[in-house]
Amino acid sequence: MDIFVIQGGKPLEGTVRTAGAKNSVLPILAAALLTEETLSLENVPDLSDVRTMLRILEMLGAEVEHTGPNRLDIRSRPSAQPVAPWELVRKMRASFEVFGPLLGRRGRAEVSYPGGCSIGVRPVDAHIRGFEALGAKIRTQEGYVVAEAPPEGLPGGEAYLATSSGSSVGATRNVMMAAVLARGRSVLTCAACEPEVVDLADCLNAMGAKVHGAGSPTIEIQGVEALHGAKHSVIPDRIEAGTYVVAGAITGGRVRVEGCRPEHLTALLDALYRSGVGIERGRDWIETQPRDIHKERLRPTDITTQPYPGFPTDLQAQWMVLMTLADGVSVITERIFPDRYMHLAELLRLGARIRRQETAAVVEGVASLSGASIMASDLRASAALVLAGLVSKGQTQVHRVYHIDRGYERIEERLENMGGSIRRESVAVEGQSAPG
Ligand code: UD1
Repeated sequence: MDIFVIQGGKPLEGTVRTAGAKNSVLPILAAALLTEETLSLENVPDLSDVRTMLRILEMLGAEVEHTGPNRLDIRSRPSAQPVAPWELVRKMRASFEVFGPLLGRRGRAEVSYPGGCSIGVRPVDAHIRGFEALGAKIRTQEGYVVAEAPPEGLPGGEAYLATSSGSSVGATRNVMMAAVLARGRSVLTCAACEPEVVDLADCLNAMGAKVHGAGSPTIEIQGVEALHGAKHSVIPDRIEAGTYVVAGAITGGRVRVEGCRPEHLTALLDALYRSGVGIERGRDWIETQPRDIHKERLRPTDITTQPYPGFPTDLQAQWMVLMTLADGVSVITERIFPDRYMHLAELLRLGARIRRQETAAVVEGVASLSGASIMASDLRASAALVLAGLVSKGQTQVHRVYHIDRGYERIEERLENMGGSIRRESVAVEGQSAPG
């Protein structure tokens, strides 16, 4: 199992190019199941989650061809059973999003319940309610969600996709993919507005779907007879870009993140301005301005995670690390995944002062952190721990970095290119893998 060994204390200096968005590419790969023709994708990030999704698609009858760096062709012949098993779905929750395409095109889907993970319970009730609203009959059987459309196909319908934490990104995409081949019109209300929902809708429309209003809370879909092949380039990963921006801010360095969409990161940029981080930005880049982190400590700045365009829950842990060194007390409130605080205990090992109060974390800034061995628990928390290592005095070892490989393309190489002292080492197995 790999660990990262980080020698902290150096400001990062350099340029990093944003990869394609993990949260966009996973559902877009699933959308390849909606047609027999070829879906050609560009800007596909090289991530273990992408490899997991490709394995699932292959099990479901797809042929995958790597046509160049970050490019793929997928052709999906509906030969295999429309069944996605527990062994693969438990590894990655997003694999539940093959449900919509299977139900829409083949009229039947059997997908294992994903179960919980280290960031919380994560139910799929909104997905199920959405499929039912489109006319599917759903039952649970031996840990699987089984759905069947009427013999003539799904009629379509009105689906309300709210959850107690706002709209569901996954349910919006899943139900959208089932609706594109329905016989009639569907309306999704309280739909998620995330850029990854818009990217999927753009890809579906390039395949011949009729999806209108993606990016707003009401999405209208006119079902079509069949979809065809298309070419699509995946949008840049706003969470990866945001993580590198915070890496620049936390080390007091000049980090230029290129090939990103600053308009997708408004909430983060606003919080950075409020905290006193110098930022310059252009159409497709963001750059942090250098600062002496010991002399110019940041202002404590509260954030609350919310659905897009609010502050993303996937940047909450990174923000917490930044605030551990602010000059005062800040409050971080988690409204999407109330238990997403596994990183908190690890940060205490580095000397941070944080206490949890129900769904909030109160962070009392300290003058410095000092290195220790710490354990990654989920994808974004592990990225945050790496950032903490970069700014801690002495050596930090981050264990279980397989979590980070799920969603960050060669993070250690990119940080090293910007002057970070970080290396990957293989160590004897030290624990079980956890689903995410
Ligand atoms: C997606 C992202 C993840 C991000 C999250 C929130 C992908 C692959 N993952 O996850 O990185 O952190 O959005 O921005 O895109 N909920 C229910 N019932 C449901 C579905 C969700 O109650 O049927 C709840 C969840 O427990 C959570 C909230 O709704 O509290 C939002 O979850 P959701 O938007 O569905 O997250 P994912 O799509 O799983």
